[in-house]
Amino acid sequence: VNILHLDSSPQGLASVTREVAQATVTQLLAANSTAIVSYRDLAAEPIAHLGGALLLALRQPKGFPVNADLANDLALTESLIVEFLAADVVVIGAPMYNFSIPTQLKAWIDRIAQVGRTFRYTEVGPMGLADGKKVIVISSRGGAYAGLPMESALDHQEAYLRVLMGFLGVTDIEVIRAENVGHSEAARAKAIAGALEQVAAR
Ligand SMILES: Cc1cc2nc3c(=O)[nH]c(=O)nc-3n(C[C@H](O)[C@H](O)[C@H](O)COP(=O)(O)O)c2cc1C
Repeated sequence: VNILHLDSSPQGLASVTREVAQATVTQLLAANSTAIVSYRDLAAEPIAHLGGALLLALRQPKGFPVNADLANDLALTESLIVEFLAADVVVIGAPMYNFSIPTQLKAWIDRIAQVGRTFRYTEVGPMGLADGKKVIVISSRGGAYAGLPMESALDHQEAYLRVLMGFLGVTDIEVIRAENVGHSEAARAKAIAGALEQVAAR
């Protein structure tokens, strides 16, 4: 079993998603001691946003001549795609930032969502190519959204990750959630405990 563990919170030890994602991976390893974990800290080692030269190069046939910087950028993109496709389980630490996800995580998504690699177009519409894996989204929010009337209007974090992973062909998506963490110290502790219980119960 290959586990891909991604953190995107820049808040280090103060991060809720980092704590809960780590607990999730620890639990996955306890259930499968031969599992291999690939770890990426998208905050500590940020992936550059897509640039024009890279987008152009991605559309060229393999072996198209490029300079050294672009070759490195292409190699990084390729390694991120290969790593994602090889994972059986992907654990994604995904805070809500401004109703959406941190730019650090979006930069990773913009690299792995590549036509011909993780999805393709068919006569009947787009088709995901990253099927057969499980994605576990570790969600944390300052406020509360789940099950509330405004959820669909305000949540562009969990809902977005579901849409995106679905588009790439992932049908098995689980969300482990801590919310209301910004309300008070007590609410935060309760939310973390609840998320850790959700991990233990899986
Ligand atoms: C830049 C920034 C934007 C945020 N935007 C939202 C938001 O739109 N809605 C919300 O409920 N909480 C928001 N929060 C609170 C975070 O979702 C919450 O603190 C979460 O625990 C952050 O994840 P982390 O603890 O793993 O860093 C925001 C926090 C930061 C730092």
